[in-house]
Amino acid sequence: MRNKPIGVFDSGVGGLTVLAELMRLLPHEDIVYFGDMGRTPYGPRSKDIILEFTRQDVNFLMEQDVKFVVAACNTAAAVALGTVSSEHSIDMLGVIEPGARAAVATTKNNKIGIIGTNATIASNAYPKAIQKINKDIKVFSLACPLFVPLAEEGYSDKEATRLIAEDYFKPLKDNHIDTLVLGCTHYPLLKNTIQKVIGKDVTIIDSATSTAIEVEHILNENNLTNEQSEAALYKFYVSDVPDKFAPVAERFLGHRIDNIIRVDITKY
Ligand code: DGL
Repeated sequence: MRNKPIGVFDSGVGGLTVLAELMRLLPHEDIVYFGDMGRTPYGPRSKDIILEFTRQDVNFLMEQDVKFVVAACNTAAAVALGTVSSEHSIDMLGVIEPGARAAVATTKNNKIGIIGTNATIASNAYPKAIQKINKDIKVFSLACPLFVPLAEEGYSDKEATRLIAEDYFKPLKDNHIDTLVLGCTHYPLLKNTIQKVIGKDVTIIDSATSTAIEVEHILNENNLTNEQSEAALYKFYVSDVPDKFAPVAERFLGHRIDNIIRVDITKY
């Protein structure tokens, strides 16, 4: 069991921010990544559709014989992972709880901001996870849907991104948060601009990093750590033509990836 790969999925490329952290922290773990490029984005879709897509993504990874699944998509994790993980026998982790735990451990004034897609914010998954740990914490949630295309287009440090962030963040600033969770896998790419606009006194929580740290703990605790000494193997699967995935993936991972295989996800 321990030498099987970890399965990671996302609605497209965003999950690569989580994958990058997993590769860095767990260099001996083989990983199968599925990016649902053909059906991205999930953020503006209904609960039913997100559930159907998430179920298929996980079924595909199960067929790759993975030992553990990481839902590297806030939208899928917030809306559907609870239901889908109960349909399988292996453990699964989404990005919500690790991000929520890290935020609770960080805040000093008990005021946390959450930014994410429309579906993630509408699900209330972050406020629920945070208030389960500490009900006195005030959570201010905000959907920032325009950040996804900006990250994919490489608009990380552009003026246009700063202006949009300033407009979006007005209510968060009025509420004097001291901690801000990047509740969408694309947002780490815009972290510099987000930090500048929200202010240097606000601590930014990147749920990609907190998730990778928790995956490491869970594998250790369950004797699931791969003991191989050779370099890990990474496999990439997508639901649209690989040419569409490769250039954006390069921006997210910071290096080229080859051998991207297309699958028909509707069969799963
Ligand atoms: N990966 C999604 C998330 O983290 C963002 C992109 C999408 O809407 O599918 O919520």
